[in-house]
Amino acid sequence: MREVTFEVILRVVFGLEESARLTALRRSLRRLLGMGGTWMVVPALRRDLGPLSPWGRFVRLRAGVDALLRAEIRERRERGGPAGDGAIDVLLAEMDDGELVDALITMLVAGHETTATSLAWCFELLLRRPSLVERLRGEGEPGAARLLDAVVRETLRLRPVFRYTSRRLREPLALGGYTVPAGFAVGANVYLAQRRAADHEDPDAFRPERFLDGAPTTGAWAPFGGGSRRCLGASFATYEIGLVLRTVLSAARLRPASARPEQIALHAIVMVPGRGARVVLESRAY
Ligand code: HEM
Repeated sequence: MREVTFEVILRVVFGLEESARLTALRRSLRRLLGMGGTWMVVPALRRDLGPLSPWGRFVRLRAGVDALLRAEIRERRERGGPAGDGAIDVLLAEMDDGELVDALITMLVAGHETTATSLAWCFELLLRRPSLVERLRGEGEPGAARLLDAVVRETLRLRPVFRYTSRRLREPLALGGYTVPAGFAVGANVYLAQRRAADHEDPDAFRPERFLDGAPTTGAWAPFGGGSRRCLGASFATYEIGLVLRTVLSAARLRPASARPEQIALHAIVMVPGRGARVVLESRAY
């Protein structure tokens, strides 16, 4: 899934034209993104101890990607003539080089692993409901498009990629009898909000049909975040997931790799200022 979504976002960002630099960029980006992990938030591990240390490797790879992106931007700026068909071409006139590098990296990172994870969960949950798969495969089956959309929504409800999104407080916040001081980060737990029995009947069950009867209330479904700031790629991601699902289901007959449903690992990182971090882990087949 990662291969598919990475290729899609690369073409969205850079357009369809190919070049030796794009091939090099593809290789470096893949290695750079492959390095991401929870270890990166631990300050003690973010030390450049040479090219063999994890952070040292990361810093060097990042510099390489940065140089390739800047070269690509320079070339497109100098080329003039009709604009290409990538997001980069649209943004050239709007941003300076530094801003553009940041925007491109954000799109490349935010725009593919999230979608790949959601797609993988769609298949994993869907394949355990063979009758649903058949309805989706049925060419021209009435309501197939709506059902497909419902499958995507239900997957994002049960398996939100981001369990919470957080904000740093500019001013103190009164919350459930506590006053949270300014400067603290507060996270809204999307995972729990999407499993409230008050909002979703039989909340732990995979039942896409629930979305055919109407949309959930605000706050009861927020896999792309909520409020004044949310995911910029929500519509694009939903469209892409549906398209890949439909294409694969019509081309292949799939079955789950194991009889036992995949587990999800729930984790929370609790950071107390001055007292370090604690990671709480739990694995359950919800
Ligand atoms: C299933 C796939 C995806 C999921 C579940 C997802 C989820 C999210 C979430 C929860 C946020 C944080 C919102 C917040 O701050 O409260 C976010 C931000 C963002 N997403 Fe996505 N996303 C997905 C796909 C994409 C794609 C395909 C793109 C780009 C094409 C994208 C671009 C972004 C960007 C640029 C932001 C930052 C927005 C900002 O801070 O203003 N995302 N996404």
